[in-house]
Amino acid sequence: MLEVLTASQAACDQTAAHISAGRVQAMHATAGYGFVQGPSKGAVLTDLDGNSFIDCRSAGGVFNLGHRNPVIARVLTDAVQNVDMGDWMLLSGIRAAAAERLASLAPGNLNYVQWAVTGSEAIEVACKFARGTTGRRNIITMQNAYHGFSGFSLAAAPEGMREPFAPVTPGVQPVPFGDIGAIELIIDDDTAAILLETVQGSGGVILPPDGYLKALRALCDAHGVLLIFDDVQAGMGRTGKLFSFEHWDVTPDMAVVAKAMGGGYYPVSACVCNDRVLAFVNERPLAHPSTFSGSEIGCLVAMKSLELLAAPALLDHVAKMGARLSAGYQELQSQFPSLVTGSRQIGLFTGLDTPDAETGKALRHAAVRHGLVAFTAPYRPQFLQIWPPLVITEAEVDELLLRLGHAVRDAADGIQDPTTEY
Ligand SMILES: Cc1ncc(COP(=O)(O)O)c(C=O)c1O
Repeated sequence: MLEVLTASQAACDQTAAHISAGRVQAMHATAGYGFVQGPSKGAVLTDLDGNSFIDCRSAGGVFNLGHRNPVIARVLTDAVQNVDMGDWMLLSGIRAAAAERLASLAPGNLNYVQWAVTGSEAIEVACKFARGTTGRRNIITMQNAYHGFSGFSLAAAPEGMREPFAPVTPGVQPVPFGDIGAIELIIDDDTAAILLETVQGSGGVILPPDGYLKALRALCDAHGVLLIFDDVQAGMGRTGKLFSFEHWDVTPDMAVVAKAMGGGYYPVSACVCNDRVLAFVNERPLAHPSTFSGSEIGCLVAMKSLELLAAPALLDHVAKMGARLSAGYQELQSQFPSLVTGSRQIGLFTGLDTPDAETGKALRHAAVRHGLVAFTAPYRPQFLQIWPPLVITEAEVDELLLRLGHAVRDAADGIQDPTTEY
């Protein structure tokens, strides 16, 4: 078990006393993170003791624009001087302007926005709207998916996550990701929607097989089924496009976005939908009466975040940094073939495969000792996820690769606890 750093001790003790001792134990012993987060900046996460790490988690995409992005900080500061959350039920010019921005950036006919607060909530919106629009009950989902922690999203999670909370929402039918035949076997006139991540994040950056998303679109059209893409992790520039599905030129009926849209400061999410879904929304305009949805402060933050995330220069940078990381991974694989057995990458959605969960854990612990905050994929524990903020500089990418090299070497040598070098 890693030693808890002195300046972090009070925060750990307070957490143990008033949040959960199991939570502290899980972070320290299981994850290997013996620190408490402090005031971070850009791609660098700093702990309460002043130690710096390169953030390779970005909180799953929350920090695509980096920690404490100064442009977003200014927008937020101005916003609190001038507006508040607003009343969700009343009309709002700011909410409408932010919806226009999101719709104008979304591909195809995704023109209408239902605001929400979290990714899980926006998934609830999409599944509710799918049932409401079609009058059908079933939602086909993918094995090894992560869509959130409540309602439909919990029902779509693997058995281990659902089990303590059973019975979960009925009508959710998981199939293997990438297997069109498995869907053809169960799709019928009670299927409301197919819900999936275009690239499975918690599954270990699993890309869709060639032609898969287009085949899903065709299948949905043939059966009157709605296609829902969960772009909570893969979206907002992570793959080098604002919306991940732009890579495959397939437009869903609904897309769910969250995380980075809040600029690292404010919780805001959305379900963006097309005319077919809008017909239902028009009939039931208050079908999702969420008090904190469409907060005016959140919408001002979202508008600016979207502008920054959609900037062609940033998206080019993501592609270049992703390619730089990928080249580094290949080098590591050739140096340490028995430890690094592969890598997967699209933009800055990246990571390394190791032979098994034990090795994945050893690499994760070594990474944090060498100044990288990276996590292993929840459903593929042999895979180290590396998802840095999109604003990471070229020099920071090179530093990341250097540190990763040290971590891989330690893990390959079975070194448990060398002096932390960073
Ligand atoms: C793909 C995906 N969908 C949905 C969610 C749920 O988002 P939230 O935690 O904001 O509810 C997450 C969260 O990590 C996610 O990764």
